[in-house]
Amino acid sequence: MIPRDTIQTIIETARVEEVVGEFVTLRKRGVNLIGLCPFHNEKTPSFTVSPAKGIYKCFGCGKAGNSVNFIMEHEHYTYPEALKFLAKKYNIEVEEEEQTPEQIAAMNEKESLYAVSAYAQKYFSDQLFKTDEGKSIGLGYFKDRDLREHTIEQFQLGYSPDSWDAFTLNARQNGYKDEFLVKSGLTIEKNGNHFDRFSGRVIFPIHNLSGRVIGFGGRILKKDEKKAKYINSPESDIYNKSQVLYGIYFAKNAIIKKDNCYLVEGYTDVISLFQAGFENVVASSGTSLTTDQIRLIKRYTPNITILYDGDEAGIKASFRGIDMILEQGMNVKIVMFPEGEDPDSYVRTHRSVEVEEFITAQAKDFIRFKTDILLKDVKNDPVKRAGLIKEIVQTISVIPDQITRSVYVRECSVMMEMAEQTLMNELNKLLRKRFRQQTQQHIPEEMVEAPEIIQEKQMEVNLNDTAFQERDVIRLLLNYGNETIEFEGEDEDNQKIQVPVKVAEFIVGDLERDEIQFSNQQFQRIFNEYAEKIREEDSLPDEKYFINHNSRNLASQAIDLLTSPYELSSKWESKARIEVTTEAQRLKIAVINSVLSFKAKKIEQLINDNQQEIKEAEEQEKYEDLAILMKKQQDLKAISKSINSQLGRVITR
Ligand code: CTP
Ligand code: MN
Repeated sequence: MIPRDTIQTIIETARVEEVVGEFVTLRKRGVNLIGLCPFHNEKTPSFTVSPAKGIYKCFGCGKAGNSVNFIMEHEHYTYPEALKFLAKKYNIEVEEEEQTPEQIAAMNEKESLYAVSAYAQKYFSDQLFKTDEGKSIGLGYFKDRDLREHTIEQFQLGYSPDSWDAFTLNARQNGYKDEFLVKSGLTIEKNGNHFDRFSGRVIFPIHNLSGRVIGFGGRILKKDEKKAKYINSPESDIYNKSQVLYGIYFAKNAIIKKDNCYLVEGYTDVISLFQAGFENVVASSGTSLTTDQIRLIKRYTPNITILYDGDEAGIKASFRGIDMILEQGMNVKIVMFPEGEDPDSYVRTHRSVEVEEFITAQAKDFIRFKTDILLKDVKNDPVKRAGLIKEIVQTISVIPDQITRSVYVRECSVMMEMAEQTLMNELNKLLRKRFRQQTQQHIPEEMVEAPEIIQEKQMEVNLNDTAFQERDVIRLLLNYGNETIEFEGEDEDNQKIQVPVKVAEFIVGDLERDEIQFSNQQFQRIFNEYAEKIREEDSLPDEKYFINHNSRNLASQAIDLLTSPYELSSKWESKARIEVTTEAQRLKIAVINSVLSFKAKKIEQLINDNQQEIKEAEEQEKYEDLAILMKKQQDLKAISKSINSQLGRVITR
């Protein structure tokens, strides 16, 4: 644990322009700095850094945050790792005194595992290139598989000698403890005996995102029915199989550049494709594809092309993978290789242009792919045909984006010669069912990125919602809460004086008096935090308070509002032609107007709701209710009129 004070010091000391500037070339534009976004591929800069606010925001991809967030995102660090990185940069001492002995042990353990893995990698490489056995057997094998020396070096391939314990003995002699040799899985312990896990195999080191070796795969050289073709390191504190993709370290830049990622099955598929110039390639090797692995790719591109063997297992694996990829809102295409071929064998027997042509020609979107495969055993059986359609609609239903879904519905309707509306109905049935399941579960308040299905539902209901007005009020609160506006008042002698009021006090006071609530929970939370500070006569939160808020969702909401691209003054001048001279006057008008607009919209909602009740009371001939409702309607309309006339005065005065 890093002490709170130290975290505060780090956040206050780290200059966002310096931190970001280390990774991105920034140019000055007005009060801000701009550059090319490091998180997505762009040609014109939309990545903005605001030194005054201590934040960055990309108007292209939406990534935003403070210095710590930048380091986390860019270097793929955890929160404490990012803090330590910044502390080091600014020579801030981090005394981690609160660390428990277990935590310290865990830290050392990780470092020890990295160290022993790095050592093993070098050892296996040396064996491959520098020993007779390695050269003739290991290197010979790789060369037979058409791997060039440069490729072998780049992927740090190796060879583990055909001996019980050559590696283990060597590592021990060099000071590596049995404990970590065993924990890393390089050494196997059985009844007090220690022996090498990978003996007599060629070695494929597995790298994490920053290129450190975290595990190994080893391939057998001779065909042996009794032994597994590949064996892999077991999971450890540094190697979590479901979160790693083989080749990602080498592929990430190419993935960004090509805006696409090839997903293959095996180590050799990755290496062969890479060597042939298809560098944007990774494998899930050894495990079936996981959501974490897909999200890892999503950091670099929304597009995945699956390249799988054309056998039964390959197809099954791709079906599962497709739904998972679509669920992440990503695009997926599938290329099946001819029976008996995998990407590696295909690449070795074809020229690169042919491979390229093959992939382009064969790549199918998931509907075409599924249909082509499933149609084979459907033939003219209407029941099976209906099953197939259900199957495809089911897959479409996992796509989070509505527009994308409807595009696929259209394609499916053409392919299956079926009315679009019928498919749409089927799809909606599924969506409604899922929506019900989701809403019955507890939806945590933290979920700003609520599933879009839910958002769509809300949109249907709230055509006249207050989202825009709420946003505007909170925007003013965050940007100008601490500024002072003046209202006319009287002192004890009934003399007219100007009373200074903080913008936040005015907004909070006015809305609390009328008991107005925000329907957006994030906004309500921001509002509540101000209200609480005002009640306790504490100092008001400044913008940094929310930017560095420990709720990441709240922080990103705040950053979004603090960086809204439109400015207060220009908006009001152009719209209402008010001749106000000072910034303070403009601010006052903007604040009053915003609060009134919010209230007006709320009242409008109440009027609509009440109108609905009146209609129902009429239909059911409940005349007593009707009288009450009519009275309420009159009152609401009166309030509405008053608010609107105040609004009119503010705007035109
Ligand atoms: N695999 C594994 N254990 C096995 C077989 C396979 O972990 N017993 C993993 C490996 O990561 C392998 C991938 O699954 O790379 C794909 O397996 P397969 O298609 O059988 O191997 P290839 O990559 O084609 O290997 P090779 O070309 O060397 O035969
Ligand atoms: Mn193969």
